[in-house]
Amino acid sequence: MTSMPRTKILGTGMYVPKKIVTNFDLEKTLDTSDEWITERTGIKERRISSTTGGEFPTDMAKYATEEALKNAGLDRNDIDLILFATVTPDMPLPCSASILQTKLGITNHCACFDLSAACSGFVYGLDLADSYIKTGKAEHVLVIGSEMLSTVVNWKDRSVCILLGDACGATILGRSGDTDESDILATHLSADGTGKEYFDNPIGGAVAPLTVEHIAKREHFMHMKGRDMFKVATRTLAKNTRTVLKKADIQMENVDWLVPHQANIRIINTTVSILKFDINKTVINIEKYGNTSSATIPVAFHEAIMENKIKRGQTVVFSAFGAGLTSGSIVFKY
Ligand code: UT7
Repeated sequence: MTSMPRTKILGTGMYVPKKIVTNFDLEKTLDTSDEWITERTGIKERRISSTTGGEFPTDMAKYATEEALKNAGLDRNDIDLILFATVTPDMPLPCSASILQTKLGITNHCACFDLSAACSGFVYGLDLADSYIKTGKAEHVLVIGSEMLSTVVNWKDRSVCILLGDACGATILGRSGDTDESDILATHLSADGTGKEYFDNPIGGAVAPLTVEHIAKREHFMHMKGRDMFKVATRTLAKNTRTVLKKADIQMENVDWLVPHQANIRIINTTVSILKFDINKTVINIEKYGNTSSATIPVAFHEAIMENKIKRGQTVVFSAFGAGLTSGSIVFKY
């Protein structure tokens, strides 16, 4: 009897825009302060993409993928599926995954599609990639989380704009070797559409196509009910982490690293304390990049590997939460 294939994260990469915008920079244009932002969110600075080219979501994804391919020891044409998680695609059509395929010079006509699940998009992508690999439908899946949130944020809305930034993380998944322990042990995805108005951007789709009036009234940006999001986020991140660990029959104390979505340092601290987990084993980089939606987890994960924190053989949990209200957790042996 042949056993089920195991899924391994073969390589990771990231790209963040060159331009740094600090809290002190925001003080100059908004009624806010470094003190307020630091205390309430943990964010000190964020990266903002160039609007003249070279740092659009698929550009960032190209650089991040090239690094991931190098780390995985793979050729670009080894990729046979691209899943591009984003709420800020390069354009409405075609999908960013196809644009990325061309930018990478992939000529094998691999399947490409975008995935819209907000901040949970990357974890949703990993779950899909795991299924494709375990069923033998794909050999090497590229999962991207890439966002240029600076284009959809109202820079006059101090309650939202101070939180967000631009970034991209890339991960390539494939099969584990026969003697290799690496595997995605369990995944748990969920959503609660009843909270959809907590974080939305209702203008610009089929229901309300963009008009000059919308633009004049600055209605075409994202809106967030911060306090409502905060409460659900802490509950959901902790609950999903427990659920995924139960599915995999792993105790919290046997987890080596938790990589949570980076939305607010207070959300991370509260989640860690509900889980009675060690904050020193929690990957946190929110101070440098803010909330970059689907990119927070792959960027934090890649940095932790590069800093020699997360090592092969260790047990890692990702837990994400976002608009929709989507959420997802995943536990794997790296
Ligand atoms: O990735 C999706 C997940 N994202 C989230 O889940 C985000 C969750 N929410 C949050 O992170 C927090 O709710 C925020 C950071 C958005 C807001 O923090 P808060 O502690 O909940 O503040 P608040 O909304 O209760 O506002 C407190 C005060 C208000 O003033 P008053 O009414 O007390 O006079 C706000 O007007 O802080 C004011 N305020 C600000 N002051 C200075 C709001 N934003 C700012 C600001 N600078 N940037």
